[in-house]
Parts: sequence; structure tokens; C-alpha cells
Amino acid sequence: MTSIGIHDLEMATGHHVVELADLAEFSGVAPGKYILGLGQSQMSVLSEDEDIVTMGAAAALPLLERNGTEGIRTLLFATESGVDQSKAAGVAALRLLGLPSNVRVVEMKQACYGGTAALQAAVGIVARSPEERVLVITSDNARYELDSPGEPTQGAGAVAMLISADPDVLEIEQANGISTTDVDDFWRPNDSTTAVVDGHLSVGAYLDALTGAWKDLEADGGPAIADIDRILYHQPYTKMAKKAQQRLREVTGEEISTALNPGDEPDGRDTGLTTGSIYNRRLGNSYTASIYSGLTSLLDHDDSLEGRRIGLFSYGSGCVSEFFTGVVQPGYLARRNPARAEKLLDQRVPVSIAEYRALHAAPHGTSDDQVTPKVTAGPFRFAGVTDQARQYEVR
Ligand code: HMG
Repeated sequence: MTSIGIHDLEMATGHHVVELADLAEFSGVAPGKYILGLGQSQMSVLSEDEDIVTMGAAAALPLLERNGTEGIRTLLFATESGVDQSKAAGVAALRLLGLPSNVRVVEMKQACYGGTAALQAAVGIVARSPEERVLVITSDNARYELDSPGEPTQGAGAVAMLISADPDVLEIEQANGISTTDVDDFWRPNDSTTAVVDGHLSVGAYLDALTGAWKDLEADGGPAIADIDRILYHQPYTKMAKKAQQRLREVTGEEISTALNPGDEPDGRDTGLTTGSIYNRRLGNSYTASIYSGLTSLLDHDDSLEGRRIGLFSYGSGCVSEFFTGVVQPGYLARRNPARAEKLLDQRVPVSIAEYRALHAAPHGTSDDQVTPKVTAGPFRFAGVTDQARQYEVR
């Protein structure tokens, strides 16, 4: 059977960054709560002329420059911070990227799980037509209310992936474990620009979904835990991955290490909890992109992945989750570029808490006519709204 999976991938994020130590000081909270308790050091913040379209297209641009556009007939754009109730964000991205008109474009939504839904749909398309390649873009701007418990878990990021036959990076395996439950742990009503969340319920729902998805993977003939070399989890904040690893350890009885922070003493087999969370610790939550930023981080920081199996647990509140696996391909070392990701994170422009709060409070997602200031250093910008339509341009 043809091997299908991720051929190449690329990350993007917002123009600004907030230090969580500054947010803790402003909020009268001990910095240790955010840095150790949540496992987050920074969060990306978008400038007024950035959104999920500009960030998603910025991630896809270098991917297409490296790989060309031949054979791409589908663009799946996964997001839960959609900018329109009808038109797919990927249609604007298609124009910005110069893709031809014979590409079908659709937006996929199920909280943070949407990216994995897009990836699995792409694998299905390539299975039917192995000469085709599918562009998957995951892009999100995670916003909670100011002064709420969720505030330090905001963030922004995008990961674009090219799905093809005979991939260079990660072959996706057939077995998968799924767990879906109707639960009100986190959602964003149509009339709200921030998420509504019952934080502690969401943590429990995530962990129960992990147990359910793991059991379903076993029932579907998936690999034994001993045959999974590295494990990645959706990371709303990196400490959540540690909680997930603890749960998987209990469920499977396998002594996998729960050491998360660099320098922590391993308490079992190292499955990449630390290496897979280096970028997310600095990005914050990037919803659909989060687990794929985790994958980028793992690939960039682990030199011995060739032939190794990675388990990926993708969770989207509400809730839908999936545990699936992939095998790292020999081409991954030539594809990865840690310096590129470090530069992306380092070159963000710091903002004070006052500036961040003003950006958060600025009109968001309205259809009132507006012209945005020129701020972003990215390749594309959101120029404003004319006659209720969002305008995008190449910078
Ligand atoms: P909270 O209630 O303010 O925090 O908000 P807490 O009191 O639970 O403390 C957090 C941790 O910090 C605790 O550790 C404390 O002990 C520790 P834990 O018990 O969890 O191991 N702590 C300290 N550690 C060191 N030094 C200190 C200190 N003080 C306390 N001085 C909460 C936490 C996660 C609830 C909040 O941030 C929130 O609501 N976040 C948003 C929801 C969320 O991220 N949920 C995660 C699961 S759901 C999910 O992943 C889906 C999602 O991505 C959405 C989607 O799918 O689209 C969110």
C-alpha cells in the first residue's frame, strides 16, 4: 500500500509577544503559577493587521516555495477563530499564495481537533489519487477574556503541511483511536470574540477523552505502547501534556517519563515530552496548530527520529479527540530547520501589558468599515474592511 503522510511542514505566528512573567506581575499572581504551574513562558499576540488568514498564508508560503504547487487540488483550512460565517478563510489564502482556481477550498471546524480532521481527510484524498497533494493549513488566534483564568493560556500560531504519497517527514499509519462526547467544556458563541470555558471541566474532559481514544486505538489494532517511541499531545499549555502523559501512564501501566521542564529528572522512558513542548511554551495555545507546532518542535530537537513511531493525541473541546500514529521518514533531517523556528519566535516584537490590553480590547472581527495600521512584518496583511468585506494584501 502507498505510504501517505506529511511531506513537509512550516510554522508561523503573530507579530507581538507578551512575557507571562509581566502578565503575572500585572495580575498579582506568582510568576511560578504561569511558568511552572501552566508551563508557559510567553504568548504570541497578533497585530491589528494580522489574523488567521495572514498567519496561515505566511506558514504556507515557504512550503510552496520549497515544494512547488503541482498536484495541489485541495486546500483544507482548519480553524476555530474563523473570520466569516460563510466564506472559507482558505479562499483568501489561495489568492494571496497565487494558487490556481482549480483548487477546492473548504474550512474545517471542531475546536482544536479541526487540524487533525483536515489531515485525515487529506490522507483519504491522496489514498484515492496518489498523484495529488493536499495543502492543510491550521491557524488560530486563542483569545479569552481579560483577567480570566484562561488569559495566560492565550496565544497564536499556524502550521501549514503538505500531505502527499511517499512523504519525506511522517507516514501516517492506518489505525486510529477516536473519542467523541457532547460536553460544554469550552466553546465560542456566534456573538462572542472570546471563548467561554469551564477550565477545570475542560481538563477532566481532555483526560477522559485521552483514555477513550487510547482504548479505541487498541480496539482498532493500533501499536502497543511499548512500540511507540515518542508521544505528542495537544498543548493548550504545556503542563496539560504532562497531565496527559501521567494519565496514559496509568491507563497503560508503561513507565513513560512525565518530566516536562528542561533539566527535570526523567521518571521513566523519555518519549519527548520536553523536546515536543519547546515551541508551544513560547507560542501559547494555537488551537488547531498546537499539536503540529509540537511536532515541529520534536522534529527540530531530536536527531534520532528516523524510523521511530510517534503517537499523536489531538483534542478539540466540545469534544472530539483522536489518538493516531506515524513513522518518521529518513527525509526529515533534510526538511527540518530549527534555526528558522527560533528566528520566528525571537523576532517577535515585545509589547507591554498596557499595549497588549489595548490590542485585546480593539474591535475584533467586526464588519464595520476600517483601515488597519501597517504593523506586521509578515508577507501578508489584513488591510481592513470595505463594504463589510475583509481586505487582504501582499505586504
Ligand atoms: P486556574 O484555575 O487559575 O489555575 O487556571 P490553577 O489554580 O488550577 O493552577 C494551575 C496550576 O498551577 C496548578 O497545577 C497549580 O498547583 C499550579 P496543577 O494542579 O494543574 O498541576 N500553581 C503553581 N505552580 C508553581 N508555582 C506557583 C503556583 N501556583 C499555582 N506559585 C486553567 C487553570 C487551566 C483552568 C485555566 O488556565 C483555563 O481555564 N485555561 C483555558 C482552558 C484550557 O486550557 N483547558 C485545557 C484542556 S481543554 C483543551 O485543551 C481545549 C482547548 O485548547 C480549546 C479547544 O479545543 O479549542 C482549550
